[in-house]
Amino acid sequence: MDKRHVVVIGAGVIGLSCAVQLARQGYQVTVVAREIPGDYDIDYASPWAGSHFRPVPATKPEDRFEQELMRETYREMEDLADRHPETGIQFIPAIEYFDTADPAYCDEKLVQENGYASWPGFRVLRSSELPAQYESIKLGVTYTAWVLNSPVYLKWLKDEAVKYGVSFIRARLSAIEEAVFICKERLSASGTDEVIAVINASGRGFNDPKSFPSRGQFIAVSNPCQRMISHHWADGSTTVIIPRPLGGGTIIGGTKEPNNWSHSISDTATVSILSRAFTLCPELVGDSLDNGSSYGLDIRQVYIARRPMRQGGLRLEREDLAFQDTSEDGLRNVQNSIPVIHCYGAGPSGYKLSWGIAKRVERFVSEI
Ligand SMILES: Cc1cc2nc3c(=O)[nH]c(=O)nc-3n(C[C@H](O)[C@H](O)[C@H](O)COP(=O)(O)OP(=O)(O)OC[C@H]3O[C@@H](n4cnc5c(N)ncnc54)[C@H](O)[C@@H]3O)c2cc1C
Ligand SMILES: *[C@@H]1O[C@H](CO)[C@@H](O)[C@H](O)[C@H]1NC(C)=O
Ligand SMILES: *[C@@H]1O[C@H](CO)[C@@H](O)[C@H](O)[C@H]1NC(C)=O
Ligand SMILES: *[C@@H]1O[C@H](CO)[C@@H](O)[C@H](O)[C@H]1NC(C)=O
Repeated sequence: MDKRHVVVIGAGVIGLSCAVQLARQGYQVTVVAREIPGDYDIDYASPWAGSHFRPVPATKPEDRFEQELMRETYREMEDLADRHPETGIQFIPAIEYFDTADPAYCDEKLVQENGYASWPGFRVLRSSELPAQYESIKLGVTYTAWVLNSPVYLKWLKDEAVKYGVSFIRARLSAIEEAVFICKERLSASGTDEVIAVINASGRGFNDPKSFPSRGQFIAVSNPCQRMISHHWADGSTTVIIPRPLGGGTIIGGTKEPNNWSHSISDTATVSILSRAFTLCPELVGDSLDNGSSYGLDIRQVYIARRPMRQGGLRLEREDLAFQDTSEDGLRNVQNSIPVIHCYGAGPSGYKLSWGIAKRVERFVSEI
């Protein structure tokens, strides 16, 4: 029997995870994307990510759904870390400090109910364990997080996809149905069957009026760190220190600037990020403290990237897209339609949700 063919639009962490998941289940998969692993662009979010696991309490029904996707992803990451050390996935202690002590994060009964306490290694820190550097910190928690080296992991996903027979086409699409046309031409040349579905994993790609960017300024430093540490300030800003395995140093950050389309690095933000990271985690610098403008942090790159946000959050659903095609004899226009499975708008959480999303997408495809 011929394989069922699926087209995936997008080669970020979501598109690649879907491609691997579908190809492992025996589908023939073609990925069509403007950027693929190895490329860097302000609008290609995946290579820039920290990227780490960070749980949040599930207080609303949609949070429960995200928590389920995060759990499926966490399990897959454990499995990959075991079977494929070359992915660079590592499990390390994570510590989060908060200037506001929200009971949803620390009340013994609430953290059981909202699932926050269910993550491996979870514990609320004693007040004696809070850092002396910041009096503002009211609460601390710890758990075991996975971290990974985004560019290395993306290349691994791509190689894994290729191993399962996935092919890649580089193209900038103006409409989703364009992918169907491009693939049909390729397929008729190789004599395989029709496309049964399109996976829309385009990040923030086309013009969904609900999609918008959230600009992030981050800094890659070569100083190593053995723990993931974050500090959530009362004003809503966050300091994060995320180790990047396999020689990637550490990612420190960062800003969250919804709807700011600027490409420029803010020198003020650079100084704040460096000083906050140094104060939060002096172990980053160790003996190499030089008290200069970069606090003994060895800067590799200061960069800007955009998180693919969406009002209402991640779009994960099936839609049947009607489009106009041409008849066999080439003379008439005919109505056609194709199932599209949307999985875009993952915002700040694409890695955290990736395998959960890929498994849901596969379920949608299996029902076609
Ligand atoms: C600084 C930073 C730190 C982050 N940290 C974390 C973290 O710690 N944990 C976490 O889970 N997430 C983190 N994120 C978020 C995460 O990076 C994103 O949620 C994730 O990368 C989104 O993946 P994606 O595949 O949906 O989109 P993208 O990676 O943006 O990929 C989109 C794909 O679609 C293609 N595409 C788009 N438009 C078109 C078109 N017109 N034609 C053809 N192809 C098109 C692109 O070329 C690309 O291949 C972070 C993000 C940033 C910026
Ligand atoms: C595919 O996803 C993009 C977001 O990247 C969205 O703007 C677009 O509307 C989606 N395509 C269709 C046909 O809905
Ligand atoms: C966007 O961000 C840049 C850099 O942080 C800042 O200088 C600028 O004022 C912001 N622009 C707007 C319109 O918010
Ligand atoms: C450099 O910083 C360290 C730690 O903050 C401090 O102890 C030391 O006095 C500083 N040295 C100079 C020369 O400023």
